[in-house]
Amino acid sequence: MKNIDEASKERAIMLFDSKDIQNFEIGTIHGLQQIHLHLFGDFYDFAGKVRGKDISKGGFRFASHLYLKEILTKIDEMTEINFEDIVKKYVEMNIAHPFMEGNGRSMRIWLDLMLKKNIKKCVDWLHVDKMDYLNAMQRSPVNDLEIRELLRGALTDKIDDREVFMKGIEQSYYYEEEDFYKEK
Ligand SMILES: Nc1ncnc2c1ncn2[C@@H]1O[C@H](COP(=O)(O)OP(=O)(O)O)[C@@H](O)[C@H]1O
Ligand SMILES: [Mg+2]
Repeated sequence: MKNIDEASKERAIMLFDSKDIQNFEIGTIHGLQQIHLHLFGDFYDFAGKVRGKDISKGGFRFASHLYLKEILTKIDEMTEINFEDIVKKYVEMNIAHPFMEGNGRSMRIWLDLMLKKNIKKCVDWLHVDKMDYLNAMQRSPVNDLEIRELLRGALTDKIDDREVFMKGIEQSYYYEEEDFYKEK
């Protein structure tokens, strides 16, 4: 039997060819909810829904659910004109961490949609090492320099390349394979 991760990865890969993704909103919590629902709708009852509980990872507590709605409205309003703006917005959305699970995988697709639309580039995730990525994300609430430079070095203009997209999804799911930040 296929597990949830395998099945949801197939849903993610399907996105490249689907018309759905062309109708998703870009750079908003609504658009991120659309992605999350597409990936996890068959598996989690919280798919596409903003969490009502507090969560933490690796000793970092993400935004309090008490303020989450207001924070997400503010993130919607953040500009996405250049690469730096977009990374800032991505980092803020990661601090918000709106879902109980599946934030990383849905947010990387959300990030690429913003990059494609605004600067005609996307991340070639195959060129972003797992440990470098997770360490830079863990550091990002304090300082976004590492994640910005890591992603900058992996930008590609192959935004319509099926191979880049599929390998990117594989890599994105590989980042989340074992819980790097699992608390003992
Ligand atoms: N300690 C941390 N501080 C900030 N961000 C983190 C931390 N640990 C993990 N992250 C980010 O959260 C993501 C994992 O969130 P999660 O909701 O579990 O998503 P998924 O289920 O797709 O793995 C990672 O990919 C990383 O971007
Ligand atoms: Mg997870």
